[in-house]
Amino acid sequence: MEKPKVLITGASKGLGLAMAELLAPHYRLILHASKEENLPPATDGNFNLCANLSDNAELTTFCKRLKAEHGDTLYGVINNAGVALDKSIVFQPEKEIDAMIAVNLKAPIMISKVAMKIFGLKKRGVIINISSSVGETGNAFQSVYAATKAGLVAFSKSLAKEVGMLNNEHQIRVLCVSPGFIETNMTDTIPENFRQKYLEMIPANRYGKASEIAETILFLLSDKAAYINGANIQVNGGLC
Ligand SMILES: NC(=O)c1ccc[n+]([C@@H]2O[C@H](COP(=O)([O-])OP(=O)(O)OC[C@H]3O[C@@H](n4cnc5c(N)ncnc54)[C@H](OP(=O)(O)O)[C@@H]3O)[C@@H](O)[C@H]2O)c1
Repeated sequence: MEKPKVLITGASKGLGLAMAELLAPHYRLILHASKEENLPPATDGNFNLCANLSDNAELTTFCKRLKAEHGDTLYGVINNAGVALDKSIVFQPEKEIDAMIAVNLKAPIMISKVAMKIFGLKKRGVIINISSSVGETGNAFQSVYAATKAGLVAFSKSLAKEVGMLNNEHQIRVLCVSPGFIETNMTDTIPENFRQKYLEMIPANRYGKASEIAETILFLLSDKAAYINGANIQVNGGLC
Protein backbone atom coordinates (compact mmCIF):
# COMPACT_ATOMS: atom_id res chain seq x y z
CA MET A 1 0.00 0.00 0.00
CA GLU A 2 1.27 3.50 -0.82
CA LYS A 3 2.27 5.62 2.14
CA PRO A 4 -0.19 8.43 2.98
CA LYS A 5 0.73 12.01 2.14
CA VAL A 6 1.53 14.72 4.66
CA LEU A 7 1.86 18.41 3.80
CA ILE A 8 4.44 20.41 5.78
CA THR A 9 4.35 24.14 5.17
CA GLY A 10 7.53 26.11 5.82
CA ALA A 11 9.71 23.05 5.26
CA SER A 12 12.78 24.88 3.92
CA LYS A 13 14.44 25.37 7.31
CA GLY A 14 14.02 25.32 11.08
CA LEU A 15 11.21 23.24 12.54
CA GLY A 16 9.67 22.37 9.16
CA LEU A 17 12.95 20.99 7.83
CA ALA A 18 13.43 18.89 11.00
CA MET A 19 9.88 17.54 10.58
CA ALA A 20 10.53 16.69 6.92
CA GLU A 21 13.68 14.76 7.83
CA LEU A 22 11.98 12.76 10.58
CA LEU A 23 8.71 12.08 8.73
CA ALA A 24 10.33 11.09 5.41
CA PRO A 25 10.57 7.31 6.10
CA HIS A 26 6.93 7.18 7.26
CA TYR A 27 4.99 9.34 4.80
CA ARG A 28 5.10 10.74 1.30
CA LEU A 29 5.75 14.42 1.84
CA ILE A 30 4.40 17.53 0.17
CA LEU A 31 6.95 20.15 1.11
CA HIS A 32 6.17 23.84 0.99
CA ALA A 33 8.29 26.99 1.08
CA SER A 34 7.70 30.52 -0.18
CA LYS A 35 9.70 29.79 -3.36
CA GLU A 36 10.71 26.65 -5.25
CA GLU A 37 14.42 27.56 -5.02
CA ASN A 38 14.24 27.41 -1.20
CA LEU A 39 13.62 23.63 -1.32
CA PRO A 40 15.79 20.82 -2.69
CA PRO A 41 14.29 19.08 -5.75
CA ALA A 42 11.56 16.61 -4.77
CA THR A 43 12.71 13.00 -4.58
CA ASP A 44 10.70 9.93 -5.65
CA GLY A 45 7.16 9.87 -4.30
CA ASN A 46 7.53 13.28 -2.63
CA PHE A 47 6.42 16.66 -3.92
CA ASN A 48 7.19 20.36 -3.65
CA LEU A 49 4.31 22.84 -3.67
CA CYS A 50 5.36 26.44 -3.09
CA ALA A 51 3.54 29.70 -2.49
CA ASN A 52 4.16 33.02 -0.82
CA LEU A 53 1.46 32.72 1.82
CA SER A 54 1.25 36.47 2.34
CA ASP A 55 -0.02 36.79 -1.25
CA ASN A 56 -3.73 35.99 -1.42
CA ALA A 57 -3.67 34.91 -5.08
CA GLU A 58 -0.77 32.52 -4.42
CA LEU A 59 -2.57 31.10 -1.38
CA THR A 60 -5.71 30.47 -3.46
CA THR A 61 -3.73 28.68 -6.19
CA PHE A 62 -1.86 26.65 -3.54
CA CYS A 63 -5.15 25.46 -1.99
CA LYS A 64 -6.62 24.54 -5.39
CA ARG A 65 -3.50 22.58 -6.34
CA LEU A 66 -3.40 20.82 -2.96
CA LYS A 67 -6.93 19.49 -3.54
CA ALA A 68 -6.53 18.68 -7.23
CA GLU A 69 -3.08 17.08 -7.08
CA HIS A 70 -3.04 15.47 -3.64
CA GLY A 71 -6.67 15.20 -2.48
CA ASP A 72 -6.80 11.45 -3.10
CA THR A 73 -4.19 10.42 -0.54
CA LEU A 74 -3.74 13.40 1.75
CA TYR A 75 -3.64 12.23 5.38
CA GLY A 76 -1.93 15.02 7.30
CA VAL A 77 -1.44 18.77 7.23
CA ILE A 78 1.20 20.52 9.34
CA ASN A 79 0.59 24.25 9.17
CA ASN A 80 4.09 25.26 10.25
CA ALA A 81 5.09 28.24 8.05
CA GLY A 82 5.23 31.36 10.17
CA VAL A 83 6.75 34.78 10.42
CA ALA A 84 7.67 36.79 13.54
CA LEU A 85 8.34 40.49 13.01
CA ASP A 86 9.11 41.60 16.56
CA LYS A 87 8.46 45.26 17.22
CA SER A 88 6.59 47.57 19.56
CA ILE A 89 3.03 47.90 18.21
CA VAL A 90 3.55 51.67 18.12
CA PHE A 91 6.21 51.29 15.44
CA GLN A 92 4.84 48.24 13.60
CA PRO A 93 3.88 49.13 10.02
CA GLU A 94 0.45 47.94 8.86
CA LYS A 95 2.20 45.95 6.13
CA GLU A 96 3.98 43.83 8.74
CA ILE A 97 0.76 43.35 10.72
CA ASP A 98 -0.99 42.16 7.53
CA ALA A 99 1.90 39.82 6.69
CA MET A 100 1.83 38.11 10.11
CA ILE A 101 -1.97 37.72 9.99
CA ALA A 102 -1.80 36.35 6.43
CA VAL A 103 1.01 33.81 6.94
CA ASN A 104 0.39 32.76 10.55
CA LEU A 105 -3.41 32.75 10.66
CA LYS A 106 -5.23 33.17 7.35
CA ALA A 107 -3.09 30.65 5.43
CA PRO A 108 -3.55 27.85 8.04
CA ILE A 109 -7.30 28.58 8.06
CA MET A 110 -7.60 28.36 4.26
CA ILE A 111 -5.39 25.25 4.05
CA SER A 112 -7.41 23.62 6.88
CA LYS A 113 -10.60 24.41 4.95
CA VAL A 114 -9.34 22.44 1.95
CA ALA A 115 -8.05 19.63 4.18
CA MET A 116 -11.43 19.36 5.90
CA LYS A 117 -13.18 18.90 2.54
CA ILE A 118 -10.76 16.09 1.72
CA PHE A 119 -10.78 14.46 5.17
CA GLY A 120 -14.59 14.74 5.44
CA LEU A 121 -15.02 12.33 2.51
CA LYS A 122 -12.64 9.72 3.95
CA LYS A 123 -13.50 10.46 7.59
CA ARG A 124 -9.78 10.33 8.34
CA GLY A 125 -6.97 12.86 8.63
CA VAL A 126 -4.96 15.01 11.02
CA ILE A 127 -4.33 18.76 11.03
CA ILE A 128 -1.59 20.10 13.30
CA ASN A 129 -1.28 23.86 13.54
CA ILE A 130 2.02 25.17 14.87
CA SER A 131 1.16 27.86 17.39
CA SER A 132 3.56 29.18 20.05
CA SER A 133 3.78 29.34 23.83
CA VAL A 134 3.47 33.12 23.52
CA GLY A 135 -0.06 32.58 22.18
CA GLU A 136 -0.94 31.67 25.76
CA THR A 137 1.49 33.77 27.80
CA GLY A 138 1.77 36.87 25.59
CA ASN A 139 5.15 38.49 24.99
CA ALA A 140 6.37 42.07 24.81
CA PHE A 141 7.15 43.21 21.24
CA GLN A 142 5.24 40.23 19.85
CA SER A 143 1.67 41.41 20.34
CA VAL A 144 0.53 40.75 16.76
CA TYR A 145 2.53 37.53 16.44
CA ALA A 146 1.11 36.29 19.75
CA ALA A 147 -2.41 37.25 18.65
CA THR A 148 -2.08 35.19 15.46
CA LYS A 149 -0.80 32.22 17.47
CA ALA A 150 -3.63 32.49 20.03
CA GLY A 151 -6.04 32.66 17.10
CA LEU A 152 -4.69 29.37 15.77
CA VAL A 153 -5.43 27.66 19.08
CA ALA A 154 -9.03 28.88 19.14
CA PHE A 155 -9.42 27.91 15.48
CA SER A 156 -8.08 24.39 16.05
CA LYS A 157 -10.19 23.72 19.14
CA SER A 158 -13.32 24.97 17.36
CA LEU A 159 -12.62 22.88 14.27
CA ALA A 160 -12.13 19.73 16.37
CA LYS A 161 -15.55 20.36 17.95
CA GLU A 162 -17.15 21.03 14.56
CA VAL A 163 -15.84 17.72 13.16
CA GLY A 164 -17.42 15.91 16.11
CA MET A 165 -20.77 17.61 15.48
CA LEU A 166 -20.77 16.73 11.79
CA ASN A 167 -19.63 13.11 12.03
CA ASN A 168 -20.57 10.15 14.21
CA GLU A 169 -17.71 7.83 13.47
CA HIS A 170 -14.53 9.43 12.21
CA GLN A 171 -10.78 9.55 12.68
CA ILE A 172 -10.27 13.24 12.02
CA ARG A 173 -8.22 15.18 14.57
CA VAL A 174 -7.27 18.84 14.81
CA LEU A 175 -4.45 19.85 17.13
CA CYS A 176 -2.02 22.60 17.96
CA VAL A 177 1.59 22.26 18.98
CA SER A 178 3.02 25.25 20.82
CA PRO A 179 6.81 25.34 20.83
CA GLY A 180 8.60 27.45 23.41
CA PHE A 181 12.05 28.83 22.62
CA ILE A 182 13.53 26.52 19.97
CA GLU A 183 16.89 27.19 18.30
CA THR A 184 16.14 28.02 14.64
CA ASN A 185 16.62 30.92 12.19
CA MET A 186 13.59 32.58 13.77
CA THR A 187 15.20 32.75 17.22
CA ASP A 188 18.77 33.39 15.98
CA THR A 189 17.95 37.05 15.52
CA ILE A 190 16.82 37.60 19.13
CA PRO A 191 19.33 39.85 20.95
CA GLU A 192 21.57 38.10 23.53
CA ASN A 193 20.10 39.97 26.52
CA PHE A 194 16.60 38.76 25.58
CA ARG A 195 17.85 35.21 24.98
CA GLN A 196 19.33 35.21 28.50
CA LYS A 197 16.03 36.47 29.93
CA TYR A 198 14.09 33.68 28.19
CA LEU A 199 16.56 31.08 29.44
CA GLU A 200 15.92 32.16 33.04
CA MET A 201 12.20 31.48 32.45
CA ILE A 202 12.70 27.89 31.23
CA PRO A 203 12.67 25.28 34.04
CA ALA A 204 14.50 22.82 31.74
CA ASN A 205 17.42 25.32 31.79
CA ARG A 206 18.00 25.04 28.05
CA TYR A 207 16.46 25.99 24.72
CA GLY A 208 14.59 23.35 22.73
CA LYS A 209 15.80 21.55 19.62
CA ALA A 210 13.93 21.42 16.32
CA SER A 211 14.14 17.62 16.47
CA GLU A 212 12.11 17.67 19.71
CA ILE A 213 9.22 19.40 17.95
CA ALA A 214 9.54 16.97 15.02
CA GLU A 215 9.31 13.97 17.38
CA THR A 216 6.11 15.40 18.84
CA ILE A 217 4.63 15.80 15.35
CA LEU A 218 5.56 12.22 14.37
CA PHE A 219 3.77 10.92 17.47
CA LEU A 220 0.70 13.12 17.06
CA LEU A 221 0.25 12.06 13.42
CA SER A 222 0.32 8.39 14.38
CA ASP A 223 -2.58 6.23 15.56
CA LYS A 224 -0.83 6.05 18.95
CA ALA A 225 -2.21 9.56 19.44
CA ALA A 226 -5.72 8.60 18.24
CA TYR A 227 -7.42 10.03 21.36
CA ILE A 228 -5.49 13.32 21.43
CA ASN A 229 -7.81 15.81 19.76
CA GLY A 230 -8.61 19.52 20.08
CA ALA A 231 -5.53 19.91 22.29
CA ASN A 232 -2.77 22.49 22.37
CA ILE A 233 0.40 20.58 23.22
CA GLN A 234 3.06 22.80 24.80
CA VAL A 235 6.63 21.72 23.99
CA ASN A 236 8.58 24.34 25.89
CA GLY A 237 10.67 22.88 28.71
CA GLY A 238 8.17 24.24 31.23
CA LEU A 239 8.30 27.89 30.07
CA CYS A 240 5.39 29.85 31.46
N1 LIG B 1 11.65 28.71 16.64
C1 LIG B 1 10.92 28.91 17.72
O1 LIG B 1 11.42 29.10 18.83
C2 LIG B 1 9.41 28.91 17.62
C3 LIG B 1 8.69 29.04 18.79
C4 LIG B 1 7.32 29.03 18.73
C5 LIG B 1 6.68 28.87 17.54
N2 LIG B 1 7.39 28.76 16.40
C6 LIG B 1 6.65 28.59 15.14
O2 LIG B 1 7.15 27.46 14.44
C7 LIG B 1 7.02 27.67 13.04
C8 LIG B 1 8.38 27.45 12.39
O3 LIG B 1 9.31 28.36 12.94
P1 LIG B 1 10.87 28.29 12.63
O4 LIG B 1 11.55 28.72 13.86
O5 LIG B 1 11.21 26.99 12.01
O6 LIG B 1 10.99 29.47 11.56
P2 LIG B 1 12.04 29.70 10.37
O7 LIG B 1 13.29 28.92 10.60
O8 LIG B 1 12.14 31.18 10.22
O9 LIG B 1 11.26 29.09 9.10
C9 LIG B 1 10.04 29.69 8.69
C10 LIG B 1 9.44 28.88 7.56
O10 LIG B 1 8.21 29.53 7.18
C11 LIG B 1 8.27 29.86 5.80
N3 LIG B 1 7.66 31.16 5.52
C12 LIG B 1 7.88 32.33 6.16
N4 LIG B 1 7.19 33.32 5.55
C13 LIG B 1 6.54 32.75 4.50
C14 LIG B 1 5.68 33.24 3.48
N5 LIG B 1 5.35 34.54 3.38
N6 LIG B 1 5.18 32.37 2.58
C15 LIG B 1 5.52 31.07 2.64
N7 LIG B 1 6.33 30.53 3.56
C16 LIG B 1 6.83 31.37 4.49
C17 LIG B 1 9.76 29.93 5.44
O11 LIG B 1 9.90 29.65 4.04
P3 LIG B 1 11.06 30.39 3.14
O12 LIG B 1 12.35 29.78 3.56
O13 LIG B 1 10.69 30.09 1.74
O14 LIG B 1 10.96 31.84 3.50
C18 LIG B 1 10.34 28.83 6.34
O15 LIG B 1 10.23 27.58 5.71
C19 LIG B 1 6.48 29.09 12.87
O16 LIG B 1 5.09 29.04 12.69
C20 LIG B 1 6.81 29.75 14.19
O17 LIG B 1 5.93 30.80 14.48
C21 LIG B 1 8.76 28.77 16.41
